[in-house]
Amino acid sequence: MNPDTLAPEQIQKHLHTKWLGQHFYYEESLDSTNNRAKALAQEGAAHGTVVLTEEQVSGKGRMGRGWVTPKGSSIAMTCILRPKFPPQRASMLTLLMGLSVAQACQRQYQLDAWIKWPNDIVVSGKKICGILTEMNAEAEEINDVVIGVGINGNLTDFPENLRQKATSLQKELGQTILRAPLVAAVLETFEENYEKFCIQEDLSAFMETYNQILINRNRQVRVLKSGETLEGVAHGINSQGELLVEKQDQSMVHIYAGEVSVRGLDDYV
Ligand code: BTN
Repeated sequence: MNPDTLAPEQIQKHLHTKWLGQHFYYEESLDSTNNRAKALAQEGAAHGTVVLTEEQVSGKGRMGRGWVTPKGSSIAMTCILRPKFPPQRASMLTLLMGLSVAQACQRQYQLDAWIKWPNDIVVSGKKICGILTEMNAEAEEINDVVIGVGINGNLTDFPENLRQKATSLQKELGQTILRAPLVAAVLETFEENYEKFCIQEDLSAFMETYNQILINRNRQVRVLKSGETLEGVAHGINSQGELLVEKQDQSMVHIYAGEVSVRGLDDYV
């Protein structure tokens, strides 16, 4: 029998959390864990519910892109949260989850994991994880936020168009990984970080740690937002999670982590 499944009983063997992952929703195949999480949230799913699947047939990436999760190979997981803070703060949760995934990879595998702002985790210059946060909110109040995490676990090959910029834990570690302990480590790390985040409702407690593993830091970046392009040197994030980019004329631009893409000038990072 293959013990490497994401079934709740496998995760629970490793999980030491207070509220995150007290309720799991698991299916062998889903269109997208984010879509299912949004539906469950509408139906009243509790804060901290986690949705997991072995395969996504219509996985979603940022900016309308797709996300591939072949059966049994990777981690496709979405956490349902019901924060008390205002909707404007929700985009920082993407950064908080990115930091948590990087820290969990460092802790589990001693991997040199970096963050490419705002939502990619990078190892050896290639993407190993992406995060997609979606919110359902009124003007002043959040109903629910779903944070989807896609980690390339035991993928051994990528389509031609991704080969230069994507990697997997198996490729980086030179061996297959067990996914359940990593899921538990990500949930534990995120729970701890989230509780700390809720004290000040910003990233001031994380800025230093985050900026230390921010791969864009002190590098030339090209920022694409709503058809506009901006180039400059990235200096790190501020307490609101905005990327500070210094343009050639030395003015500093604060980039908000919405529908924005950040690249190196010639490459992915
Ligand atoms: C990106 O880098 O573009 C974001 C990718 C996010 C993928 C994850 S996999 C689990 C969750 N369900 C989805 O449909 N997408 C996210």
